[in-house]
Amino acid sequence: MQLSDRIGYLLAVGNIIVLLLYIPRTLCQHLPSQDEDKFEFDINELDIFYDTHVIPESVSVPVYLYKGKSQNYFFRVEKNNLPLKIILSPCSSSINWSIKRRDILPDIEDDDSNDYEDINDRDPFHAQRSKNQNPLSPYTFLGNFTGKEPTTYYLRRAASGLYMIEILSLNSDTTVDLYGSTTSYPVHLKPSLPNDKSVSITSKSKRMFTFEWKQSSFERGFNDSVEYCVAVNRVKNYKTYCELMAKVLVQRKAKSSGGWGFSWEQTQKRQLDKKGARGKIIYKCIGSKTKYTFNTAKPGKTYHVDVFVLNRKVNTVAAYSGTRVKTERRKKEKRKALLQDGKRKTIKLRKGSSEQNVMFKVESRLDSAVLELKSCRGKIPITIYHGNKNIHQTVVSRMKVLRMKNLPVGVYTVKLTGNKNRKRVLSMLFTTATYKKPRLPYNPEIKVIDSVSTCHSVTLSWSLTSLKQRYCLYVRESPTISNKRSHHCLEMAGRRKKDKVMCVRLKRKDRDKAIFTYIVKSLKSDTDYVFDVYVNRGIGASLAYHSVVTRTKPDCTK
Ligand SMILES: *[C@@H]1O[C@H](CO)[C@@H](O)[C@H](O)[C@H]1NC(C)=O
Ligand SMILES: *[C@@H]1O[C@H](CO)[C@@H](O)[C@H](O)[C@H]1NC(C)=O
Ligand SMILES: *[C@@H]1O[C@H](CO)[C@@H](O)[C@H](O)[C@H]1NC(C)=O
Repeated sequence: MQLSDRIGYLLAVGNIIVLLLYIPRTLCQHLPSQDEDKFEFDINELDIFYDTHVIPESVSVPVYLYKGKSQNYFFRVEKNNLPLKIILSPCSSSINWSIKRRDILPDIEDDDSNDYEDINDRDPFHAQRSKNQNPLSPYTFLGNFTGKEPTTYYLRRAASGLYMIEILSLNSDTTVDLYGSTTSYPVHLKPSLPNDKSVSITSKSKRMFTFEWKQSSFERGFNDSVEYCVAVNRVKNYKTYCELMAKVLVQRKAKSSGGWGFSWEQTQKRQLDKKGARGKIIYKCIGSKTKYTFNTAKPGKTYHVDVFVLNRKVNTVAAYSGTRVKTERRKKEKRKALLQDGKRKTIKLRKGSSEQNVMFKVESRLDSAVLELKSCRGKIPITIYHGNKNIHQTVVSRMKVLRMKNLPVGVYTVKLTGNKNRKRVLSMLFTTATYKKPRLPYNPEIKVIDSVSTCHSVTLSWSLTSLKQRYCLYVRESPTISNKRSHHCLEMAGRRKKDKVMCVRLKRKDRDKAIFTYIVKSLKSDTDYVFDVYVNRGIGASLAYHSVVTRTKPDCTK
């Protein structure tokens, strides 16, 4: 199990469930070790720690503290005159902590040691003693500490005994790393960082970047237990590993189940949801490599990069100085202004840009072809060249269909002229297939027949033409009636599927049957609706009738 998972376990168990999982120490010692290679010390030591709150010798253990709820932990010093070092490293909150000592009374074998002890007893040595009627020696106060920084309590020659550490988190829930040792051998707690602890970006592009760092000066004998872990996110740099892990764990839990319903979890989940994908942390442990390539970046975004070195053997971590990187912006892709047979293309002419060329190629002599030009905004003058020869000139104001015959082989260029003050948009289609232009009636209006409309239905009618065409009716609710000029090009293609009411192929039979009537049902009462009718024939662009806005009747009783 990895350190992160250990912390995960810890967070999962919290300080409440620990009580429920209480297992007598003797039982624990017989459990098989779960993961020999990652942890040199018996993995059960951590389990025992969570049960008993007794800090193991020379191994850093993380605990989770709720704000304002004090917790006691213990450290056992077996012999007199050993150097005692207790280090508390809070993660994200100031803590108050105190240290007290009392004598350890001789351990006495207890026949009932498999019995469950009083789960509310936070002193693991208390029950045994009270069973044996041993008097409790009182605690002696040794010191009080407060702050946000890692703090060491050190005694060069400590008296043997049971040291009790009481911790209170002041500002927020937090993890705190606890470490206790009685060895005089100068164990470096943290993997040591090189002099240059910076992380440098060695290459970057639109969607990826690579960062590197100097190797940690490995501790003697710790070579195989040192591992680098990297974190990439778009919100901030994480100065401490514990702060990062708290976020990563909450993120994992939010993703998998729904967590365990602890309050700290829910607030963090909410914060996470608010930030959404932006707040996501990519976290990976990568062994002894000192280089990492992040290749799922988005163009033109800032990423925060943090690197940590973990000593798996003693469960400690050191942080490199994080860095930031901004990926390259997406290049303004030069539209490949080449029209393919049958493929519609939309051309945008920015304000002030004077002209743009669009080409199509004719590879073998063509009997006929169609160039359909539809202006989405304003009037657009165009000139068509065959090679360098000007062959046609016109202005597109709504829709223009150019039927071309006997086209010689060659490259044809359509030059579009923009407007200094206005943006222009044009939709183009070049096709050698059969092309039929749709037609709007003389009066392209949609009428609402109020007399037969109800609170749940609207009856509409519109004029047909003598051509057989496809008519499609769309509806949308209109909370505010916007006067914004519609974008002609987006007509039918730009509509949501769910707005479609129906499509029908129709032709005006005779003068008497020139009007088509349709009842739109299942509408909400007293609601504004916008109706659109589009007409098209095959691959050509559609034409729109004038939109109509109407309000359903409020009263359904009539
Ligand atoms: C924490 O310690 C400081 C300094 O000893 C003290 O002023 C403060 O009242 C303590 N806070 C709590 C909540 O015990
Ligand atoms: C240490 O802190 C505890 C609890 O906050 C308080 O009761 C005690 O008086 C403090 N002791 C000293 C010596 O400051
Ligand atoms: C530890 O790693 C360093 C650098 O890779 C290497 O030079 C050294 O020999 C290794 N030591 C041991 C004991 O494996």
